[in-house]
Amino acid sequence: MPDVELADLHSALGDPSLDAINFLNEVMGRYPHAISFAPGAPNPELLEEIAIERCIERYLDHLCVERRMGRADALRRLYEYGPSQGLINGLIATALKNDFGVAASDQGLVVTVGAQEAMFLALRVLFKSKDDVLAVVTPCFMGIIGAAKLLDIELAALPELGDGPDPAQVQGLAERLRASGRRLRAIYVAPDHANPSGAIMSAAARRRLLELAERERFFLLEDSAYAFTAREGGELPPLKALDRSGSVLLIGTFAKICMPGARVGYLVADQTVRDGACERGGLAQEIAKAKSMITVNTSPICQAIIGGMLLEHGGSLRRLGEVNGRFYRGNLRRLLESLERHLQDLPVAWTRPDGGFFVTLRLPVVVNAALLERSASEFGVLWTPMSQFHLDASGDHQLRLSCSYLAPDQIDEGVARLADFLRTAVPQAAVKANERISN
Ligand SMILES: Cc1ncc(COP(=O)(O)O)c(C=O)c1O
Repeated sequence: MPDVELADLHSALGDPSLDAINFLNEVMGRYPHAISFAPGAPNPELLEEIAIERCIERYLDHLCVERRMGRADALRRLYEYGPSQGLINGLIATALKNDFGVAASDQGLVVTVGAQEAMFLALRVLFKSKDDVLAVVTPCFMGIIGAAKLLDIELAALPELGDGPDPAQVQGLAERLRASGRRLRAIYVAPDHANPSGAIMSAAARRRLLELAERERFFLLEDSAYAFTAREGGELPPLKALDRSGSVLLIGTFAKICMPGARVGYLVADQTVRDGACERGGLAQEIAKAKSMITVNTSPICQAIIGGMLLEHGGSLRRLGEVNGRFYRGNLRRLLESLERHLQDLPVAWTRPDGGFFVTLRLPVVVNAALLERSASEFGVLWTPMSQFHLDASGDHQLRLSCSYLAPDQIDEGVARLADFLRTAVPQAAVKANERISN
């Protein structure tokens, strides 16, 4: 067999952003006893509670009782191929409406293989030519960066200012692109405790961004993965619920409130598609067409598990996420308290988010794979370098800590190890240089 030249493969495959997950898995595999703040994955203890068979039974009951199907027909739904658009759309649409005021019908959404497929599909369908540009609020989830790169979509960064992107910068970007014959086609934004910044967009910022999207005619790809971690009374309406102009596509995942292994997410795309003067149908149907050529349909068995879990919680997404939300809020609080306790005397700065899984730290030294290796081998603590969440070098002095994967009582020990590591990794010379820079 002839060897294959990397240079002859798709250019994105040489990009570090596509290797980021493998890289972290590989490091975690080599240091199985390290305390790991690296994965943004759900806590394994929460997954132990899930009884898959019971969830499937609950969904079958729903089909038999509420949809009046025979048991054999209901079972066949699970065993056979299914519609590309999904099986549990109605359950999800009802929950989105009742819980968050998102008024999409079951026809307006596609059930996807995780949020990741939803991102890929949204980009594939909305982006027509190389003149269409995707802006991302950075730092941002690397899954959207990787998907855009695989699809040859040009990316532009809009820095996170703690309340979403700066409207003037968004406006400026849209105008600059227009002046060069291109268009700002969409902005990827995670308004609720984003990964990794933890930032939340205020209601006013949400309204401003929606007005801009309507005026400048770009789409907003809203990723709501961490909305369920908001403290009680701290929840804000999704952009999709405030959208009056059809600017928003809402991306959802069941990975964090149910389980990532089911690989179930969804994309709300209830816009109408026109062909000249004619109405052609819904955007969700066009997206389902693209999906039928990628994953055909989302596993009906996995949809049944998620559907059953939703039904066990009265059909409410909010209730489904309650226990996990409380757990992660507790872990985040512990992480923040430990950081205050152990890192006080160190020249590092960190974020203090109110929800989500993540805290980011700024160091006066470059944070790279070699530093992570040292942290793992000498101090037994793992984290994620932030460079992979940026399009440029702005994350090169930062690392991300995730509170999600650890048992609550491991967190303090992990932060104590991190503090020991930082004491050696941040040499006095760098501290002085950093002080000069920040003064
Ligand atoms: C912001 C964000 N969106 C989406 C996902 C992935 O969702 P899924 O597992 O459903 O593909 C993650 C996972 O870490 C995430 O952090």
